[in-house]
Amino acid sequence: MTEIQDDVNEQSSLDTLRDVLINKSGDVKLANRFRALFFLKSIGEEFENKPDESSLALNYIGECFKDESELLKHEVAYVLGQTKNIKAAPILREVLINQEQQCMVRHEAAEALGALGDKESLELLEKYHNDENEMIEIRQTCELAIERIKWENSESSKTEKLQTSLYSSIDPAPPMALDDKQGEKIEKLKSILNDQDKSLFERYRAMFRLRDIGTDEACLALASGFDDPSALFKHEIAYVFGQLCNPVTVPSLIKILGNNKEAGMVRHEAAEALGSIATDEVLPILKSYLNDKDDVVRESAVVALDMYEYENSNEIEYAAI
Ligand SMILES: [Fe+2]
Ligand SMILES: [Fe+2]
Repeated sequence: MTEIQDDVNEQSSLDTLRDVLINKSGDVKLANRFRALFFLKSIGEEFENKPDESSLALNYIGECFKDESELLKHEVAYVLGQTKNIKAAPILREVLINQEQQCMVRHEAAEALGALGDKESLELLEKYHNDENEMIEIRQTCELAIERIKWENSESSKTEKLQTSLYSSIDPAPPMALDDKQGEKIEKLKSILNDQDKSLFERYRAMFRLRDIGTDEACLALASGFDDPSALFKHEIAYVFGQLCNPVTVPSLIKILGNNKEAGMVRHEAAEALGSIATDEVLPILKSYLNDKDDVVRESAVVALDMYEYENSNEIEYAAI
C-alpha cells in the first residue's frame, strides 16, 4: 500500500514539476521554470533505479520544446544531454532537424547528442556538419559532437589519463590527456587554443585542460579565445568562465557582453557567467541588461539576478536557523 502511495506521490510531484516547467498557469517566473527543470533532470538521470519515472521526466522535459523562450529551450536541450539517459536521444534528434527551432536550441540539441555519446546519431550529425546551407554554429557543433562520440567509443578514451575534473558537466570535448606533454605549459595550451589550423575538437581539448588547471594564468590564456571568429568557440569560453568563477575573467566578460555586434549566444553566456561570479561590481552591470534588445541576453540577466537573490535570501534563512 505504501509503495502504491509512494508511486502516486511521485507521479503527482512529477506532474507538478512539469506544470511549473511548461508554465501551465501562465504566471510562473522564468527562474522557477529553470528550477523545475533541474529537479526533473535529477529524476531523468535515475534510469537504472526508476526507469518509468525517469522516462516520464524526460518526456515532460521534452514538452518544453513547444515554448517560445530560446533561453529556456536551449537549457532544456543541454540538460537532456547531461542526464546520460540515452532515451533522450530521439527527442534531441527531433529538435536538431526542426528548422523552426532557434539556433541556440538546435546547437544545444546537437551538443547533447554528443554528450550522450549516441552512435546512432552519427549519420544525422554528419549530414548537418556537411550542409553548406546550415548555420555555422550548427555545423561546428555537429563537428564536435561527431568527434566526441568517436572519441568516447575509441581505445584512447579507455587508456588516456585525464585529470579528475572539479566540474560534473559532460563537456563537448574531454580535456587534453595528462600524459600529453603539450599540456604542461600554459603558453603551449594557449597557442593550441587559438590555432585556426587545428581541429575544433583539439582546440576544445586545450580549452578544457586550461579550465581544469584553473589558475589566473590559465584563465587569462582562455580569455584570449574571445578574439576568435567563431561565436560557438567564444560562447564555450564564456561557459567555462561561468564554471571557473574566477574574478580575473570579469573584465573580459563585461567587454564581450557590452559588444552589440557580438552574437546573442556569446553575450548570453557572458551574462550567465557574470551571474555565477556575482561580485559587487557585476550586479549593477547585469541590471543594465534587463532591457536588452536580444531576448536571450535580457532573459539571462533576469534569471541570473533572480537566482542571485534566491540564493542570498536562502543564506539568510539558513543563518537564522
Ligand atoms: Fe552551448
Ligand atoms: Fe548557454
